[in-house]
Amino acid sequence: MSNVSNDPAVLSVAACVLDMISDDMCVGLGSGRASAAFIAKLGERVQAGLKITGVPTSNASDKQARELGIPLVPLSEDLVLDLTVDGADEVAPNLDLVKGWGGALVRERIVAAASKRQIILVGEEKLVQTVGERGRIPVEVIPLAHGYVVRKLKALGLTPTTRPVVGGTEPFFTDNGNLTLDCKLAEPLRDGAAARALESELLAIAGVVDTGLFLGTAERVLIGYADGRVDVRETLS
Ligand code: A5P
Repeated sequence: MSNVSNDPAVLSVAACVLDMISDDMCVGLGSGRASAAFIAKLGERVQAGLKITGVPTSNASDKQARELGIPLVPLSEDLVLDLTVDGADEVAPNLDLVKGWGGALVRERIVAAASKRQIILVGEEKLVQTVGERGRIPVEVIPLAHGYVVRKLKALGLTPTTRPVVGGTEPFFTDNGNLTLDCKLAEPLRDGAAARALESELLAIAGVVDTGLFLGTAERVLIGYADGRVDVRETLS
């Protein structure tokens, strides 16, 4: 459980979201620090008798959940998850997100898509005015297509960098065996419409599996602060 953070902001949001979990729910288990803090707390509840099932979004969350005794189920044809709890790397005012700095964006996308609700846990440092502001939008790429995709990304005015393993120089491979290109924008995206236009252009490139742009997917974002305070933002329905 070494991935579980001591950050009070992360611990507060992880504790707060537990109020949304009750018996018989099926819960998507996100990836990254905030998600790991949530999974740790969920594990304690399961050990105390809470009856839920989980669907992990990465090998890391799968391993953590198994170690804690959280029952896991496969993403079968008829499974609709009640909610997915996950982290994010950027949150815009309209709750558009950037995700994937932790390398699990494809499975995070799939599990969130199979869920009725996506709930996001972040610290205040993740709040931005427009997506891409913190400097990188991840794009997951089939290894064979790497060179071609780099060329196409540059033609769109982006500066892609092939993600290395943490603390090393060799390329990082995702749980799906793919590479990640972290893309820097030439200039900030104007608004949500510009983010959607960029998303369409990226997804149209052959060899791109998915991007870290999660636009309009979050229903609720819990924002933690160093003093333990938690703010909640919701999409307008
Ligand atoms: C993993 O691929 C990501 O989408 C994470 O959810 C995101 O990077 C947030 O991670 P932290 O909670 O570690 O900041």
